[in-house]
Amino acid sequence: MWLGTQWGEPLFHELEQLSPDSILGLMGKFRADPSPAKVDLGVGVYRDLSGNTPVLSSVRRAEQEILAAQTTKSYVAAAGREEFNQAVEELVLGSAHSARRERRVRTVQAPGGCGALRLGAELIRAAAPAVTVHVSDPTWGNHTPLLGSSGLRLERYPYYDTAANGLRFEAMLERLNRAAEGDVVLIHACCHNPTGADLDPEQWQALLQLLKRRRLVPLLDLAYQGFAADLDADAAGLRLITEQVPESLVAISYSKNLGLYRERVGALIAIGESPARADAMLSHVLQIARGMYSMPPDHGAAVAAYIFGNPALKREWIEELDRMRTRIIDMRTLLAHELGRAAGAGSFDFIRAQRGMFSLLGVSPEVVERLRDKHHIYMTSDSRMNLAGIMPHNAEYVAQAVAAELPRSHSSARAAG
Ligand code: LMR
Repeated sequence: MWLGTQWGEPLFHELEQLSPDSILGLMGKFRADPSPAKVDLGVGVYRDLSGNTPVLSSVRRAEQEILAAQTTKSYVAAAGREEFNQAVEELVLGSAHSARRERRVRTVQAPGGCGALRLGAELIRAAAPAVTVHVSDPTWGNHTPLLGSSGLRLERYPYYDTAANGLRFEAMLERLNRAAEGDVVLIHACCHNPTGADLDPEQWQALLQLLKRRRLVPLLDLAYQGFAADLDADAAGLRLITEQVPESLVAISYSKNLGLYRERVGALIAIGESPARADAMLSHVLQIARGMYSMPPDHGAAVAAYIFGNPALKREWIEELDRMRTRIIDMRTLLAHELGRAAGAGSFDFIRAQRGMFSLLGVSPEVVERLRDKHHIYMTSDSRMNLAGIMPHNAEYVAQAVAAELPRSHSSARAAG
């Protein structure tokens, strides 16, 4: 403690101690739990059957080749690696996208999907500070600080009904129909976080018509490409929309599908209504990046670009991605089955059909707390489960713990329904 007496009021005197971030704080609690029975369904990282989050073998090979050939650590550029940005456009938008043909697409490498979202938010604020960004209810816990910290106003649109375990699509359209012209809509491109409930092709069409009619600008968040069906199918809704509206933004993360979490690899795609508008957008993004972090980290993007540009490595990566997806789908089936046995047939069947890493169990924060404190099962307080934390050896344990902690009304209603 500072013991001097001649100093005035300390600068940070008024700052209150904040509670840790809900997802990152849970990581710390899980690590500190000594129980051998503990199960981590918290932070969204992939885990293999031994509970490890592996370095993909395509990534390891690319890293070895890159490190062997690297001759400098000098700066790259504020927009990052050009070959990475080009490959991202191809993977996300596809080769036949009209905006690419019309040279209206600009892409910059970003420090993870978070960095891309923050760049997008700052760009929106630079263009239209009074605009509202509409985010789904519920949405990923970090969307609010990431977008809100740039001073943008956020509003929620209905998205998911936890009692019925399904989308509230009509309510979503009804709410967005009342958004002001020029407002921004944040859309999860696939594998909605935290619900695992995605739009079907008809719903994507209906959303597109609404965006066009109300002149709303989409900000698409693509953090799980390849985790629902495959790389192209998972970008289909995003491509449909970005082809048909004049302006859009896409924030991309390679944390999950390349397993490059800590390397912070992401990108922001900005599509303008003309090449000149796209150039103006790019110039602002670069200035924003320079003012926040100057340049993105290189290593992870170098690895990603190397894999995307090498047909054999790319094939290997896609096979690894297929295996990660299949494992999660298998665990969805297994957990739904075990929950059915423990809590009543069909009671949690919705988990089987949802997509990506997450589903909401649909229980109260009190039940979540009891699952953690009594059974050492960790999930976020909204009852989001990372299905990659389920293993053949713990699915029955998790299901029985859930059934034991469910309020009676909850289990009988589910069994009846
Ligand atoms: C998650 O949703 O758990 C992940 O995307 C990790 C994070 O940064 O929150």
